[in-house]
Amino acid sequence: MDAVVVSHRNILNNEYEIKLSAPPIANNAQPGQFVHLLVGDGYSPFIRRPFSIYKASADEGTFSIVYLARGSFTSGLARYSPGGKVSVLGPLGNGFNWHSNPHHRSVLVAGGIGAPPIHFLAERVHSIASEPKAVVINGARTRDLLVGVDDFARLPVMLHVLTEDGTHGMQGRVTDALDKLLKESLHIPSTIYACGPMGMLHAIGDIAQSYGVECQVSIETSMACGTGACYGCAVRVKDETGSRISLACCEGPVFRSDEYLWDEAV
Ligand code: FES
Repeated sequence: MDAVVVSHRNILNNEYEIKLSAPPIANNAQPGQFVHLLVGDGYSPFIRRPFSIYKASADEGTFSIVYLARGSFTSGLARYSPGGKVSVLGPLGNGFNWHSNPHHRSVLVAGGIGAPPIHFLAERVHSIASEPKAVVINGARTRDLLVGVDDFARLPVMLHVLTEDGTHGMQGRVTDALDKLLKESLHIPSTIYACGPMGMLHAIGDIAQSYGVECQVSIETSMACGTGACYGCAVRVKDETGSRISLACCEGPVFRSDEYLWDEAV
């Protein structure tokens, strides 16, 4: 469908949030799902790009994505003004399977531009008045790559912000903060939900396994069609025969970290 741009703001440096009017998508979107966008009228760029949903409001009939303008596609997207139209497919994929149990703690980990689906999940999770509160660990290498930090700060969650170079928040890595949190509060039943660079997700999966905590990860892979036709997003997951191919655009992009095979070629 063609979605109309409602607002488009420059958050910081090359970080933007674009809000689009698309009631069917806004009504059905779940945290962890994505949309496939096409910008421009010609043949360049030729293929759509996937973007995780950052916010969605069924009341407004809108959803938004956050992106860093740093290539031809996203720089083209940055030129859209309110009233413009963007071709959108979605919502696509399977999102997080999150707990609505008020006594279960959600631990949300966002690394760099992996923050959007974690922000959408944080908005939904905090609407369940849970005790203990949901925890968000938001980190990046440096301040310019830290995404969504002001929006996370508006939510009633326990927020930990880190940068590896210490330019914002605590100095350190999200994996160190997660390890410390679990070590200090292992008695609280928790589930980890994470999105970010693959190395970070792999490390988080290992930490979750070492503490015996359930963990779901939203992986990033190339997605040319987003609908199961091109096999460009094929990954390997465990099954009873050892392993099988899974299409991240349809079965994912969220997987249980203990079923995802990090080191196996497709
Ligand atoms: Fe084409 Fe998944 S993106 S099959």
